[in-house]
Amino acid sequence: MNLSLPEPNQNSQEPKAINEQPIANSLPEYSLAQLALRNGQDRDEIWVGYKGLIYDVTRSRLWRRGNHYEHWAGQDLTRELQKDAPHTEHVFDKFHAIGRLKMPTSSAS
Ligand code: HEM
Repeated sequence: MNLSLPEPNQNSQEPKAINEQPIANSLPEYSLAQLALRNGQDRDEIWVGYKGLIYDVTRSRLWRRGNHYEHWAGQDLTRELQKDAPHTEHVFDKFHAIGRLKMPTSSAS
């Protein structure tokens, strides 16, 4: 009786926000300069930019002082996660997006 049928909905192709949180247009927008101040050195808050959203990782022991395995908070780390991290973006599941990242330009790559 070892039937392992895929659960319905599990492999939905629909793109979803991390945390399944709707990418709320209601979230405030912050510039890269504002994000940079939350690098764990200049302010108490520690923020990380990822795929257009900003996550507050202040309570994470793994981001203490803004440093995480040679990566620094206060920046857009989208490419770094894809390139360097041994984990997926699901590490953001337990954090809240607190804002949207205001992009200086909308570059294609
Ligand atoms: C050399 C690169 C990296 C290494 C070795 C690394 C390693 C780790 C490890 C071991 C954990 C805890 C275990 C886990 O959740 O899988 C973790 C958690 C996490 N990582 Fe990374 N990581 C790297 C890069 C990044 C980057 C670039 C980002 C951001 C875009 C990131 C964001 C996070 C977050 C948000 C957590 C969850 C923290 C928590 O639960 O308190 N990591 N990382």
